[in-house]
Amino acid sequence: MDIKEMLQKIYEADFPAKVDLIALLKTDKDEDIEEIYQFADMVRKEYMGDAIYLRGLIEFSNYCQKTCSYCGLNIGNKKLKRYRMSETEILKAAELIYQDNIRTIVFQSGEENLLDIDWFVNILKTIKKKYSDIAITLSLGEKSFLDYQKLRDAGADRYLLKMETYNKKLYQILHPHMDFDYRMKSLAYLKELGFQTGSGNIVGLKGQTLEDLANDIISLKKYSYDMVSVSPFIAHPETSLSHIRNADVPMVLKVLALTRIVTRNPHMPATTALGSMGKDYRIDAFKCGANIVMPNYSAVEHKKLYEIYPNKRCLDENVGLCKNCLKGMAESVGRVIGQGRGDSLK
Ligand code: 5AD
Ligand code: FES
Repeated sequence: MDIKEMLQKIYEADFPAKVDLIALLKTDKDEDIEEIYQFADMVRKEYMGDAIYLRGLIEFSNYCQKTCSYCGLNIGNKKLKRYRMSETEILKAAELIYQDNIRTIVFQSGEENLLDIDWFVNILKTIKKKYSDIAITLSLGEKSFLDYQKLRDAGADRYLLKMETYNKKLYQILHPHMDFDYRMKSLAYLKELGFQTGSGNIVGLKGQTLEDLANDIISLKKYSYDMVSVSPFIAHPETSLSHIRNADVPMVLKVLALTRIVTRNPHMPATTALGSMGKDYRIDAFKCGANIVMPNYSAVEHKKLYEIYPNKRCLDENVGLCKNCLKGMAESVGRVIGQGRGDSLK
């Protein structure tokens, strides 16, 4: 079978065969890799159209009690100065996002058990009341069912909770004392509560095999998420994986492309991480499946402290600048900026 036939086969399959995905992940000839990207671009165009949606990101707290071995926010990083934005700062950021005509706010934080849910719920309610046509996405890590419910009742529409890897054994090695099963269960809870849910993986993790990546792609199809994020591993100096080399970009883009081909219609971001690897590879991501990008509306001093990985892009940009830059980027690849909330197509 040639590459095109294989791509057609995994596209049509209810569940693609692991061997086929592994064979495609192994491709190393430029023209074959290009075929994969082009097929993904076609699927993206057919299901998602040409709009690229902006999601205004507010990284409102970098407190975290978790142990993710790749992440600079993990509890073991005592060098990091921790912050939590005030209500006034959060509302100001939300206003800027709204003024920029963006209709999704993404709230992201470390996974902090100190977060006062009632305080946060109040902020969500205020925003929802003030801007009735805005969607709210949360990325706060694992919470109790009751907390998820409170957040949903306050008007939150979507929730992102990445599995990072669907290999339970590998997950447990990379996340000491964390619970793979509760994370999976959380995604089921979130769905049950009516959230549009998102998950995804990291490519290039220590100990991750091509079989693991194939398995990730199959799992991302199986759970039929509304949003799927594929991002590259970037080594952070203050973590136990500081010596591991960064993800191979073509491999990340292949996983992104194959995930688009197999899962067809979730919203998929060109991640900031892909934009932070020397060159801005978000452009490449747009050409092989991505249809979302997340400009950062946190204040400069907070952006610097939200250091998941080093050399995060646009740290010195004032909010608003990114919006124009991204519009230019979208147009340069023949796309337009999406209007409205850009809800799930599922
Ligand atoms: N490299 C790449 N991505 C990372 N994330 C966390 N740490 C890193 C890293 N070192 C990603 C995880 C998390 C998201 C917010 O950032 O996928 O879910
Ligand atoms: Fe920030 Fe381009 S995305 S300046």
